[in-house]
Amino acid sequence: MPFLAAALDRVKPSATIAVTDKARVLKAAGRNVIGLGAGEPDFDTPDNIKQAAIKAIQDGKTKYTAVDGIPELKEAIIAKFQRENGLSYKPNQVIVGVGGKQVLYNALMATINPGDEVIVPAPYWVSYPEMVALAGGEPVSVVCTAEHGFKLQPQALEKAITPKTKWLILNSPSNPTGAAYSKAELKALTDVLVRHPHVWIMTDDMYEHLVYDEFVFTTPAQVEPSLLDRTLTVNGVSKSYCMTGWRIGYAGGPAQLIKAMATIQSQSTSNPCSIAQWAAVEALNGPQDFIPKNNKIFKERRDLVVSMLNQASGIECPRPEGAFYVYPSCAGTIGKTAPSGKVIENDEAFVTELLEAEGVAVVHGSAFGLGPAFRISYATKTSDLEDACKRIQRFCGNLR
Ligand SMILES: Cc1ncc(COP(=O)(O)O)c(C=O)c1O
Repeated sequence: MPFLAAALDRVKPSATIAVTDKARVLKAAGRNVIGLGAGEPDFDTPDNIKQAAIKAIQDGKTKYTAVDGIPELKEAIIAKFQRENGLSYKPNQVIVGVGGKQVLYNALMATINPGDEVIVPAPYWVSYPEMVALAGGEPVSVVCTAEHGFKLQPQALEKAITPKTKWLILNSPSNPTGAAYSKAELKALTDVLVRHPHVWIMTDDMYEHLVYDEFVFTTPAQVEPSLLDRTLTVNGVSKSYCMTGWRIGYAGGPAQLIKAMATIQSQSTSNPCSIAQWAAVEALNGPQDFIPKNNKIFKERRDLVVSMLNQASGIECPRPEGAFYVYPSCAGTIGKTAPSGKVIENDEAFVTELLEAEGVAVVHGSAFGLGPAFRISYATKTSDLEDACKRIQRFCGNLR
């Protein structure tokens, strides 16, 4: 009998982590490598948030807490949902987890039965289909092309829904494309969902604050309040508050679902780190003025990267609304030959050859469900981004 669980056969290791590892090996061997694979801000956690954590330690807030989060953090989350999203939740409708990732995972584990389908618009964050598979469900990928701004179209949603559909996972702004749905675009989707009362909505709003050019963020339950009792609104402090390592995410949703998620959490991790929870209270309740300051830098970097990539031969790079990713097509390079003699057969070959020839680490689009393309994270020093884009231009210029 094999030792490892059969469920593992259904799960792929993360392509984004694989690229980061490969870049690390090349760096250790002395190569000058620029990594554009990581999905985390290069900015430090704001000092007031760090101080709140230090105070929590000094005040002895170092013991187990309630599994689903301390009351003070739940209150801060409730206030945030009200203030920023116009959503009203009670404490038993809110859960705090070890990052947004655990919250999403617990929600799927709490609801998926064998054969249940989950609609995952592609390009998707790599973890969604894998988590659905681990939970025993069937991820149903619906490809959303650049032509439609990488956004799910209402007709495509309607077509993908079957009697077995349990969830639609929406992620706006998106990892990996940066695409964000306007209020009207969300309304067109929620209109479809209103007609299918058995389908629930898991909305991953992790990049809510990272939007540019006066884009106004909205979330499905705000656009269509009648969906509130079948929507799980997931968010967290990792990205906007530069707190990826602190591991705090949260969600608002129907009490029965939240209770089921807490049961799973109680038998796996128990509460998220008590100190990180106090830091998150300060993040949500404290000054928010660093967010527009960071966004100004992110927007400048996005514009720089989009403009430089569009000058690279064979590359087409749309300008996304938010997050800190761009998702250029490399269709124009497929079939060409690199100076090494290798043929660029697909986007995986493109990123492998780019890393070997020029020391730039990016992630191939097919890992996110739509290629030939690649993802660049621009949450990196501007000078490195400029250097990396010059290398990509040179790499593409050298293809024959
Ligand atoms: C779309 C999306 N959702 C969720 C997460 C998980 O965030 P956390 O670090 O809070 O677990 C990420 C992190 O990369 C993400 O990109």
